[in-house]
Amino acid sequence: MSLAVDNIGQLVTLDPADPERPVRVDAALVIDDGRIAWVGDARRAPAADSRLDARGRAVVPGFVDSHSHLVFAGDRADEWEARMTGVPYTAGGILRTVAATRAATDDELRARLARHVAEVRAQGSTTIEVKSGYGLTVADEQRAVRLAAEVTPETTFLGAHVVAPEYADDRDAYVELVCGEMLAACAPHSRWIDVFIDAGAFTVDEARRVLKAGRAAGLGLRVHAGQRAADGGVALAVELGAASVDHATHLTGDDVDALAAASTVATLLPLVEFSTRQSYPDARHLINAGVTIAIASDANPGSNYSSSMPLAIALAVREMGLTPLEALAAATVGGAAALQRGDVGHLGVGARGDLVVLQAPDFRWLGYRPGVPLVAHTVLGGEVLA
Ligand code: NIG
Ligand code: FE
Repeated sequence: MSLAVDNIGQLVTLDPADPERPVRVDAALVIDDGRIAWVGDARRAPAADSRLDARGRAVVPGFVDSHSHLVFAGDRADEWEARMTGVPYTAGGILRTVAATRAATDDELRARLARHVAEVRAQGSTTIEVKSGYGLTVADEQRAVRLAAEVTPETTFLGAHVVAPEYADDRDAYVELVCGEMLAACAPHSRWIDVFIDAGAFTVDEARRVLKAGRAAGLGLRVHAGQRAADGGVALAVELGAASVDHATHLTGDDVDALAAASTVATLLPLVEFSTRQSYPDARHLINAGVTIAIASDANPGSNYSSSMPLAIALAVREMGLTPLEALAAATVGGAAALQRGDVGHLGVGARGDLVVLQAPDFRWLGYRPGVPLVAHTVLGGEVLA
């Protein structure tokens, strides 16, 4: 089955094979068998089995949200309200979500995850990474990655989110469990392993143990670091060749130099700064220094409960010094780089047919009209979602 998307007023391809021309006007494209088969001038569009008329609006690659924690139960709106009055974010609230998540049935978690995924798609995200981390027992962590794998291939084992309450007095034994039995149970359902480096979670040395065990089990590496302080996590991520280091809110000069010289992507999470009232990292400085950046949502019940990539883009422009095109690129090809995927995040020939028809003539409206739903259609693998 093929689909022609034609009458596109403005087409943002971000095709790495055509770096001089990230944006086209009066364009069309054809998706065949789930992949982009043709991109070109609207008047030359070849015939296809079906047609989506973009009616002169803008088309952009589907957003690649490379960081979320959407397998959970319960909520923590009270913590958010307190933060808005000046109470700082800490990792402590994670255990409240752990208790609620453990108490939920599989069907409850699955239904809630499905609602989140529908919400994410309606906001234009076509690739989403989903982490475990609210189970913290072998069975509960395995359940989380198993449920995540039902909705995305980008699944991450985050048993090292915080120390499980049962191990509060023996954190070493918990790290041992994560690296042993828990990893063995979760690895078959996971592509990635992640660890939260923070004063309220794990040290750099503990994280090194976890990540090395994950790598030995065949998983790719991701790291939460620098959320509340420069904590040495960026250096560890670079040392181990992690695909991505996420948050990166607090960075030293050495961290920036190390990232610029490495393939590790710095994944910025502006919705977290927004929802915790922290100051934003300087993405302009990172790009100027030669660091590859991504923007992701980090949707979770604690530090940020928004899955809106358009709002993340608006904040990256408003607060982090990016141009609108840089922010869109960070939310698409940047996220793809953070997931080491060449087939998503752009609309070059051969890429997956994942795109968004905006209710806007120009992609800049994503930041120009913050908070306004601008997704007219999400197309996933050539299929137009309702
Ligand atoms: O990425 N930082 C650690 N984990 C999440 C927050 C989890 C929570 O507070 O429930 C984050 O911000
Ligand atoms: Fe996170």
